Amino acid sequence: MSAVLKGAAADLPSLLPMREGDLDEVMAIESVIYTHPWTRGNFGDSLRAGYECRTLRLGKALLGYFVLMAAAGEAHLLNLSIAGAYQRNGHGSALLHEAAALARGLGARSLFLEVRPSNRGAQALYTRFGFRRIAVRRGYYPAHSGREDALVLTLPLA
Ligand SMILES: CC(C)(COP(=O)(O)OP(=O)(O)OC[C@H]1O[C@@H](n2cnc3c(N)ncnc32)[C@H](O)[C@@H]1OP(=O)(O)O)[C@@H](O)C(=O)NCCC(=O)NCCS
Repeated sequence: MSAVLKGAAADLPSLLPMREGDLDEVMAIESVIYTHPWTRGNFGDSLRAGYECRTLRLGKALLGYFVLMAAAGEAHLLNLSIAGAYQRNGHGSALLHEAAALARGLGARSLFLEVRPSNRGAQALYTRFGFRRIAVRRGYYPAHSGREDALVLTLPLA
């Protein structure tokens, strides 16, 4: 675990398992930062499916969270989110680092994710982290008018 996430001191964020009891706060963030947010059911299903779901907290404040699915030597980052008030402070990078380390520890050789072409901020984060684009899924996401493609990105973990 990276120094920033050890949470040993009161002013350092802690990485914690996401629980059902976190979902009110998770949804409060999710519904604000996405045009097409996940539903509470999506998070509940992820928890019940045993996906790796984590929250990042500073004291009681929920800064962000991720959902990672790892199986058969691959990992998929299904959700990575930082609350609006806490963005651009390195927390997204820290969560990404933790997700990649977790995936590697679970035996994944590659980490995959999808991102909207319109989401320039997230793309900047992923490119800086070393992800590269491998495919485009046409019309993958719902959008305000019709559908939006998904860029498929991957990061080698070996
Ligand atoms: C994308 C997201 C997770 C990034 O989290 P974050 O904590 O703000 O990211 P960081 O502070 O670690 O950013 C690291 C670097 O990524 C790039 N970056 C991050 N957000 C950016 C933005 N909005 N615009 C441009 N570059 C951005 C920058 O290079 C940044 O470094 P800098 O701040 O020194 O310039 C966060 O903005 C978010 O939750 N957005 C809404 C949900 C979302 O889009 N999730 C991803 C779906 S695929």
